[in-house]
Amino acid sequence: MSPTSLCLSFDTIGRPEEVLKLTERPLPPLSGHEVRVRMRYAPVNPADLNFIEGTYGRAAHPPAVPGHESCGEVEAVGPLVTSLKKGDVVIPLLGAGCWTQHMTAAEQHFALLPESIDPVQASMLRINPVTAWHLLTQHVDLNEGDWVVQNAANSGVGRALVQIASKQGLRTLNFVRRPELVAEMKALGADAVFLDDEDGLAAARECLKGSAVRLAANAVGGDSAIRLMDLLSPEGMLVTYGAMSRRSLKVPNKFLIFKNLRLHGLWITRWFEKAGADELYKALEPLTRMILDHELHTAVDEVIPLRDFRRALARAAEGGRRGKVILDLA
Ligand SMILES: NC(=O)c1ccc[n+]([C@@H]2O[C@H](COP(=O)([O-])OP(=O)(O)OC[C@H]3O[C@@H](n4cnc5c(N)ncnc54)[C@H](OP(=O)(O)O)[C@@H]3O)[C@@H](O)[C@H]2O)c1
Repeated sequence: MSPTSLCLSFDTIGRPEEVLKLTERPLPPLSGHEVRVRMRYAPVNPADLNFIEGTYGRAAHPPAVPGHESCGEVEAVGPLVTSLKKGDVVIPLLGAGCWTQHMTAAEQHFALLPESIDPVQASMLRINPVTAWHLLTQHVDLNEGDWVVQNAANSGVGRALVQIASKQGLRTLNFVRRPELVAEMKALGADAVFLDDEDGLAAARECLKGSAVRLAANAVGGDSAIRLMDLLSPEGMLVTYGAMSRRSLKVPNKFLIFKNLRLHGLWITRWFEKAGADELYKALEPLTRMILDHELHTAVDEVIPLRDFRRALARAAEGGRRGKVILDLA
């Protein structure tokens, strides 16, 4: 009998907890440049849930295996493979199909990481930290001491942004929904943390004391995005990369007329498609270094076994988590 492997898959678009099932698949023999990776961990990101329910930017074509990122170890390599060997720690770059115990793909579809990296942290490296890096480095020329403002600051992206900004000598003003997060975010390196409401906005204005704010990162939309626009200086840029409130962006006319704000969007998937390997590694290398040096850490809510995936999905869909829900693919 040929060896088999478990994965999560769905045959129809729908609510993740209803359509996702555990499936057993045979492991195909390896040929040419193919590599087989034994996956260890994979986070459950909002985009994964959106992908299954058909609200993501890229349509799923069921039957499909979801999961946009993960980390694993090379288990076997095809006869022509030169860049990887058994035991190497890798993350897939394919952008889908990660909720599986085994992934087989050509060697160029995996990025090699140092053996000593924490595999749980590595499983969350490719999307959120790279998005935060992109927000801070590819939109506005920032100088040491500059302020960056953001909402959903305790999200995976938000926390990475605080840590990367702090390393770059930038200052962050952060909005969160829960008071208990203020001290936690400050311990992470946030310079200022306020509740995402009108009182928080007043306190943020007071804190900035008229300092220039040229970049705002928006993962929420609705009124929260208006508060970010309020804090931006003339010609400042609001980069929208998420819509956690599921409310549209409303732009008060005065912000366009009197401040000429620039409104941009970021979808890191599009950047992955366009960026060459060199560009991608320009982001991955310093972020990997930061993880190894304990300067970049993504908070984890719970690591949940693959077989208990329904509980993982339910928890990931809840607000008020302590961090990411991680699938243990063992
Ligand atoms: N455009 C891109 O390329 C890109 C890349 C990565 C992520 N994203 C997007 O960025 C956002 C954050 O992703 P993530 O993985 O970092 O998130 P995450 O770690 O799962 O955290 C979710 C965040 O959203 C907040 N939140 C949940 N429901 C909300 C609501 N109804 N209104 C306001 N805030 C709410 C949570 O606050 P509490 O903790 O208080 O519940 C938490 O801060 C998502 O929309 C995701 O799709 C986009």
